Amino acid sequence: MNAPLNEQFLTLQEIVAAARRNLAPGPWSYLVGGAETETTVRRNRLALDAIAFRPRVLRDVSSIDASADFFGRKIRLPVMLAPIGGLESIVEGGAAASARGAAAFGVPQMLSSVCQPGLEATAAAADTVRVFQLYVRGDDAWVDDHVKRALDHGYAAFCFTVDVAMYSRRERDLIGRFVKPWRATAPAGSNYQSGLSWDQVKRYKDRHPDFPLIIKGIATVEDAQLAVQHGVEVVYVSNHGGRQLDHGLGSAAVLPEIVRAIGGRAQVWVDGGFMRGTDIVKAIALGATTVGLGRLPCLGLAAAGVPGLVRTLEILENEVQTCLGLLGVTSFAELTPQHVTAAPPVGEHGVFSAFPLLGDPSGTATT
Ligand SMILES: Cc1cc2nc3c(=O)[nH]c(=O)nc-3n(C[C@H](O)[C@H](O)[C@H](O)COP(=O)(O)O)c2cc1C
Repeated sequence: MNAPLNEQFLTLQEIVAAARRNLAPGPWSYLVGGAETETTVRRNRLALDAIAFRPRVLRDVSSIDASADFFGRKIRLPVMLAPIGGLESIVEGGAAASARGAAAFGVPQMLSSVCQPGLEATAAAADTVRVFQLYVRGDDAWVDDHVKRALDHGYAAFCFTVDVAMYSRRERDLIGRFVKPWRATAPAGSNYQSGLSWDQVKRYKDRHPDFPLIIKGIATVEDAQLAVQHGVEVVYVSNHGGRQLDHGLGSAAVLPEIVRAIGGRAQVWVDGGFMRGTDIVKAIALGATTVGLGRLPCLGLAAAGVPGLVRTLEILENEVQTCLGLLGVTSFAELTPQHVTAAPPVGEHGVFSAFPLLGDPSGTATT
């Protein structure tokens, strides 16, 4: 009989190693890969590794509260499971499994519109705090239909992901000839949401003023300003985990200037390379409200299904609490930009450089 998960997995590094063992080459490459040279993927980690802490000591940190607020609901950590298309190729049950893990631990899930089992069945699978992300591949009536269904099924907000005008060239998938069911209609380099513009954002806000809108995939101050001018509630800083435009900046590198430019007029969320408790703490210190986790929860699901996801989040929480205590704060509210500073990064930067002890599990395109 296998040991309980809290004995099997003491570190996130062991979760990554188990996921690597369990996933077939196609889904593994789909999960870990990025676009073209994967420079944006590496810069996500580089940007986080170029931030160091400035700890304060001799403060009573005997009781630490790492919880946060998410659209008025208390969540256990300021993190959210980012939307993942094709989760069903990573874990049995797909989005329903991730919803169950999110609910069991106590963090929100953002469901992708290109994920099974879909909006209604995922909502029915678990009592999560949830939001819905749509790729706009239909007309206005089609969008409104999704908004209505999301409202009817208890989703707390709606999201447009806007960094997929073209479907990118993911070369691990191409070389490995990995074809997902929905890829048949979106080959690499093809139009995906190429007609989407700020007009649709305006239309959404005019039509659905009370259903908060998240714009995911903002990477510049200029677009962050435009999003605020359009009245969006959340500016979600993201480069899609380095899976869309290659040679972009790391998300953590652009976060501070966007936070400054927005000045509290909207929430700022961020994702891209956030794998460790220290990464979460850095983002919140720099002014983010919520951190999206993309690949990490998937690795937990691949390692050991729903309990593996819960275990991943437990270890992450332990890392967060350890970091907060060592910084001399007892909650995220006490964190300030003074707790971080720029520093020369050390070592390699890649999708797995947050897990250096077990060797590089990223593999090549065909392994
Ligand atoms: C396998 C996979 C599928 C993804 N599918 C979607 C998607 O359907 N919609 C979306 O907005 N973002 C999607 N993303 C991007 C994530 O939501 C998130 O922005 C990114 O993974 C964050 O970077 P991280 O993986 O380094 O945490 C996907 C990412 C991965 C790894």
